[in-house]
Amino acid sequence: MILHKFKNQAELDRVAADLMMSVVRGRPNAVLGMATGGSPVGLYQEMVKSYKQGLISFKEVRTFNLDEYVGLAVTHPESYRSFMQRNLFDHIDIDIKNTHVPNGNAADIEAECRRYDEALYQQGPVDMQLLGIGHNGHIGFNEPDTTLSRFTHKVTLKEDTREANKRFFNSLDEVPTHAVTMGMGSILHAKSILLVVKGQEKAEILDRTLNGPITTQVPATLLQTHPRVIVLTDCDVNYKLSHS
Ligand code: F6R
Repeated sequence: MILHKFKNQAELDRVAADLMMSVVRGRPNAVLGMATGGSPVGLYQEMVKSYKQGLISFKEVRTFNLDEYVGLAVTHPESYRSFMQRNLFDHIDIDIKNTHVPNGNAADIEAECRRYDEALYQQGPVDMQLLGIGHNGHIGFNEPDTTLSRFTHKVTLKEDTREANKRFFNSLDEVPTHAVTMGMGSILHAKSILLVVKGQEKAEILDRTLNGPITTQVPATLLQTHPRVIVLTDCDVNYKLSHS
């Protein structure tokens, strides 16, 4: 993993956006893996800014989102489809039919997971997968557990994850209990991974991600096995490159 530390989030967002856009400049029909939540908002704003300045086009870009809540209307402002439209897709020239977010309202969720993986494997591998990290070390919604799943699947959200996401809803009761998420196999299949970690309260989990033993109890530690992971953070952490 490569670790870059920033003093301020604006600078981090700019660099993160530049990295994503450099992939698109190199391959106009690139496949980008997208994340939601607080971490990517600033970098999406930077991408919109560059598009509006005429510096980049997303006309041929294809995107796959990591996850979506189960049972939340797609039109709900906190559905991840709504999030992506509001924060990025509505403001750039991407072709909406090339944007993929799992359908958390499918009558047959298992079939929806299979359909999502088939589309991902047909169009992939993802050129650059953007990730945030949960306080418990989840990536996508792959929550800490004794085993992790390879493919897209339905998960029960941990209570600490629901607590953390409560800030986007009126109350904890409104936060969905389940989600559909890309599996660890799909995430690790990406050619490169960009992990954005903001806020000193994530320093401890980032330290475990970078330096701790690889364990399914901290899903993000599996990123240690991937050859091309860039971590951008404003946390005060160190990356120990040797045993000592
Ligand atoms: C979102 C996602 C999650 C978030 C994580 C951090 O699509 O997959 O893993 O990246 O929960 O969320 P924030 O950025 O809100 O702290």
